Amino acid sequence: MQTRPRIGTPLSASATRVMLLGAGELGKEVIIALQRLGVEVIAVDRYENAPGHQVAHRAHVIDMADPKALRALIDAERPHLVVPEIEAIATDALAAVESEGVAEVIPTARAAQLTMNREGIRRLAAEELGLATSPYAFADSLDELKAGVAKVGCPCVVKPVMSSSGKGQSVVRSDADVERAWEYALAGGRVNRGRVIVEGFINFDYEITQLTVRAIDPASGQVQTYFCDPIGHLQVDGDYVESWQPQPMSAKALERSREISHKVTEALGGRGLFGVELFVRGDEVWFSEVSPRPHDTGLVTLASQRFSEFELHARAILGLPVDTTARGPGASAVIYGGMDARGIAFEGVAEALAVPGADLRLFGKPESFVKRRMGVALATGADTDEARSRAREAAAAVRPVPGEAAQ
Ligand SMILES: Nc1ncnc2c1ncn2[C@@H]1O[C@H](COP(=O)(O)OP(=O)(O)OP(=O)(O)O)[C@@H](O)[C@H]1O
Ligand SMILES: [Mg+2]
Repeated sequence: MQTRPRIGTPLSASATRVMLLGAGELGKEVIIALQRLGVEVIAVDRYENAPGHQVAHRAHVIDMADPKALRALIDAERPHLVVPEIEAIATDALAAVESEGVAEVIPTARAAQLTMNREGIRRLAAEELGLATSPYAFADSLDELKAGVAKVGCPCVVKPVMSSSGKGQSVVRSDADVERAWEYALAGGRVNRGRVIVEGFINFDYEITQLTVRAIDPASGQVQTYFCDPIGHLQVDGDYVESWQPQPMSAKALERSREISHKVTEALGGRGLFGVELFVRGDEVWFSEVSPRPHDTGLVTLASQRFSEFELHARAILGLPVDTTARGPGASAVIYGGMDARGIAFEGVAEALAVPGADLRLFGKPESFVKRRMGVALATGADTDEARSRAREAAAAVRPVPGEAAQ
């Protein structure tokens, strides 16, 4: 990508083509941002009518973990940029695409490889970059896990190395919990490799997502690092339920958070927005993990920033300048499906939108599960307390019901 990129006309020979690998609610917002900049977008997911499919120029359904299927689609579509939105991708195929110059992988193929597995990113952060993390050990068997728990100490958290959204993750408070944690991790891992990480439990005051953007500075033509205000969030069973921005922090903790975020995103390289997850206690900060893409807790930026994390990602990947200015305090609250059914409907939308400062995103997922994120309520407020209570009120007003044809 040139430092002064031009953008062509979609669906013509001059088109600037971007392929999203994963077209969930986060991908959908990135696609909308790209569409607004006149980009031709190809959305890929593993099931039909994914949220991003519904707003892209073309939609494909493939198994993105299958390197042959992935490569064949990239060869057929010839995107200029390939943008992973999920972790479970055949990253070796992405590495080949990048090294052969077929397309640019965002932010880099190596970043996708390192972050799809907790081991890669943990070793990079702790062992190569020397960042503060929880103490940790890896294990491939119950016996190794027992040794790992003994080394790290209780309480600790056991997680499959390949998993997300808290799947297969549990807290071990004493030796009596180890076997159950092992079985739980085996069942919850993305691929049944049976490798886990055991991490010492960090008794943090709060946790944040530090959105960090690597984008071209128009003055120098070089990649520069930009920071958004810290996002606070609440996790239940490893899944985010509420987020707000800005999270108040001590000057020292903020400085440390940005130092860590700068180092880890620089090591991953490329251009784009990253979500750096950090634990904070007093002035102390621990690196937890990083997504080389927009972060679910960053949905709040749709309400709280001049440009959302999705717009920032779109600009950064295209080589365009970014602006991380805050608009004011904001919050987001997740709306779950509450039932296992296809084609559900939502009641209470008018009540939700009547809450002052409130907004809504309904993702349009074809199938609901009890704990599937189907939408999010957003709100602004005089401070984050007000924004949070408005977002919660709006989210609670939305009631998923079994679907029936609209009159
Ligand atoms: N070592 C730890 N000490 C304390 N809390 C932890 C630790 N590891 C994880 N947690 C808690 O569990 C949450 C989920 O953990 P983590 O981010 O590692 O899992 P994940 O499956 O990748 O989740 P996601 O994909 O939603 O980010 C964290 O945000 C934090 O609240
Ligand atoms: Mg996480």
